[in-house]
Amino acid sequence: MTILVTGGAGYIGTHTAVQLLEAGYDIVVIDNFHNSHIEAIERVKRITGKEFPLIKADINDQSALEAIFQQHKIKAVIHFAGLKAVGESNQIPLAYYRTNVAGTVGLCEVMERHNCNTLVFSSSATVYGNPEQVPIPESSKTSATNPYGRSKLMVEEILADTQRSRPDFWNITLLRYFNPIGAHPSGQIGEDPNDIPNNLLPYVAQVATGKLRQVNVFGNDYNTPDGTGVRDYIHVMDLSAGHLKALEHLQNTGSGFHIFNLGTGRGVSVLEIIEKFREISGQPIPYKIAPRRPGDVATCYADPTKAQKVLGWNTQYGLEDMIKHTWNWQKQNPNGYRS
Ligand code: NAD
Ligand code: UFG
Repeated sequence: MTILVTGGAGYIGTHTAVQLLEAGYDIVVIDNFHNSHIEAIERVKRITGKEFPLIKADINDQSALEAIFQQHKIKAVIHFAGLKAVGESNQIPLAYYRTNVAGTVGLCEVMERHNCNTLVFSSSATVYGNPEQVPIPESSKTSATNPYGRSKLMVEEILADTQRSRPDFWNITLLRYFNPIGAHPSGQIGEDPNDIPNNLLPYVAQVATGKLRQVNVFGNDYNTPDGTGVRDYIHVMDLSAGHLKALEHLQNTGSGFHIFNLGTGRGVSVLEIIEKFREISGQPIPYKIAPRRPGDVATCYADPTKAQKVLGWNTQYGLEDMIKHTWNWQKQNPNGYRS
């Protein structure tokens, strides 16, 4: 059974590709390497000992998508390809809507033409905006405060409309990720941000190696136990495993529309992350308290009960593993895939 993995060279895409290949699926990857490196694909092949077709193309390139569906019998699509930097989305919103929204619409059009009905889409906890309650169930109110979040919310609604238009055909799952961190336990693949990282874990990891001077803690006056932001960090291996569970579930249900949170259900503060990283790496992690980052919420963590019950998905890795594996990847690849 062949799965098309869009954005398969990226952080979550590579980890999912490894697990798909290890589970016996065939995969085809499409990626334009906007935010990734060909070496990541080589490493996926090395870890699994398996070959697979890689198409270097833009998700908006309809003829490239057509060619993939003509050449391969694609049974399902896991759609990771997209732009994901919240700050940048305020500067270049059209690029975000082009890739994230129009790219997904074009992909669904090609799928429909080729009678491929099964789609797993990468959504985000960002669609909960400032959450009205924690832990956050899937039924919570959704909203967006920036173009990135709006692009995810728009796609969620577009996919819901699409499924409603042909309820006996379309088989779609939205996965709302909380905060993926960590790396493959081998240290061969991991998160490799371009430039200075926006996200906490890659930033802390680069402070630990001495590449960056100190962590800026964005606010210590939130209404949280230590005043710093609380998030639901989830190991990328567990997150990836959730995609395989979602695929199996779609195969068993035939057609439908489903939404699942992928998180651990546990909130961890910025200072807890820094302390744990210091303990595990044995490196000093200097930090300073900086002003709040605009758009950040105080607390965000999942109610993952639905994915546990319906998909039979449970997380295997704790915070210690997440940080150990992040550090292992960072030490082995101080300059990411360019190391
Ligand atoms: P990533 O940037 O590492 O991976 C995305 C991949 O898509 C990259 O390899 C990139 O080159 C590719 N890509 C970008 N634009 C493309 C285009 N026009 N055509 C083809 N390929 C293109 O990001 P990730 O962390 O692996 O995220 C994967 C998905 O999950 C994204 O849709 C992201 O919005 C979503 N998501 C990520 C997080 C997170 O914190 N990492 C959280 C919630 C949701
Ligand atoms: N933080 C710092 N210093 C930094 C970076 C982050 O203190 O240098 C803090 C933030 O204020 C926040 C926490 O660390 O309290 C986590 O921040 P991240 O940037 O790592 O993650 P976010 O929760 O802001 O956002 C991430 C993704 C979004 C996604 C969201 C939910 O970047 O795309 O998780 O899935 F929508």
